[in-house]
Amino acid sequence: MDEVTFRSDTVLSDVHLYTPNQRHLMVRLNGVGQPVFLSQFKLLWSQDSWTDSGAEGGHLRDAHSWEFPPAGSGSPGSIPGSGHSREGSPLQAGADTFGQEGAGAQLDEDGDLDVEEDDITGDEAPESPHSVIRIEHTMATPLEDVGKQVWRGALLLADYILFRRDLFQGRTVLELGAGTGLASIVAATVARTVYCTDVGADLLAMCQRNVALNSHLAAAGGGVVKVKELDWLKDDFCTDPEAPFSWSEGDIADLYDHTTVLFAAEVFYDDDLTDALFATLSRLAHRLKNACTAILSVEKRLNFTLRHLDVTCEAYDHFRSSLHALEKLAHGKLRFVVEPVEASFPQLLVYERIRQLELWKIVAEPAA
Ligand SMILES: C[S@@+](CC[C@H](N)C(=O)[O-])C[C@H]1O[C@@H](n2cnc3c(N)ncnc32)[C@H](O)[C@@H]1O
Repeated sequence: MDEVTFRSDTVLSDVHLYTPNQRHLMVRLNGVGQPVFLSQFKLLWSQDSWTDSGAEGGHLRDAHSWEFPPAGSGSPGSIPGSGHSREGSPLQAGADTFGQEGAGAQLDEDGDLDVEEDDITGDEAPESPHSVIRIEHTMATPLEDVGKQVWRGALLLADYILFRRDLFQGRTVLELGAGTGLASIVAATVARTVYCTDVGADLLAMCQRNVALNSHLAAAGGGVVKVKELDWLKDDFCTDPEAPFSWSEGDIADLYDHTTVLFAAEVFYDDDLTDALFATLSRLAHRLKNACTAILSVEKRLNFTLRHLDVTCEAYDHFRSSLHALEKLAHGKLRFVVEPVEASFPQLLVYERIRQLELWKIVAEPAA
């Protein structure tokens, strides 16, 4: 295989940066020749209650009572949710990447490496299949491929979904810019139908593969994930039956008739895309039959710029002014109420919940 080269515009998510890298296994090359890795994200569920009574009855374990982390996945004594370990070293991200030595690597019919159920890295006991989410992702990408990595905001959003199960229970929901699909997969443990959307056939194929890898999680609660193309830069859905991940008329009708929650993680990094996303949110909210709530996660990234000779967070500032503009929208049949969500809900996935990670709620309701 050619050496992996890191271009100057290559970005790496903190989620993968802090993954132990001593035994990375590349499971395959994707359609455009990028190395794909498989990681598992532990869910701090009470597994007994999940298996006893299904997703409905399953309850969440107190993150602080979880014996964490297992060997090889972080510093001993880390405190989920605190961002610090008891020893004072930084919390590791909650992903294990499957390792070469532990893997009984086999080729599937396409020549991809298959990683079996018992290929878990390290010495830890096998996890219940209901306590891990397995995600294929790339490790570092140019900016146009950032959706192939898992971002911290997706983990924050997933935590919120599990905390606000009431909002998602039995509902039809839509994720915008889903990337690897992690938040949609979590939503499907509660929701009835999840429309998991993004752009690009290669990314959507990776997302579809992740949905299939975790289908037992959705099935336990009766949920279904439909991976579809939804481009914020286009006014309409792709309905070409020849195109992969296109929409059927039935899907579109179902989306408009039943959707009550929209959500998106870490999609505010380019001002033009932010504008397109807000336009899409507003357009969808106006077309939906029911009132809807949108949940957005964002990480306030501080950068030093030569232009300002100062530390700025321009993408975040643009996001905040877009929220403000949405709230001030005076025309149309809806009004949008925007409020920050305090990130004090339990942490059931392991990542560093830094202060810069934010969650925002937008409620679209009929204008008086
Ligand atoms: C930083 S990634 C976040 C991915 C995922 N939500 C997460 O947090 O792990 C931004 C996502 O926005 C998607 N995106 C960018 N432009 C888009 C567009 N015009 N329409 C739909 N999605 C777009 C990207 O493909 C990518 O998946």
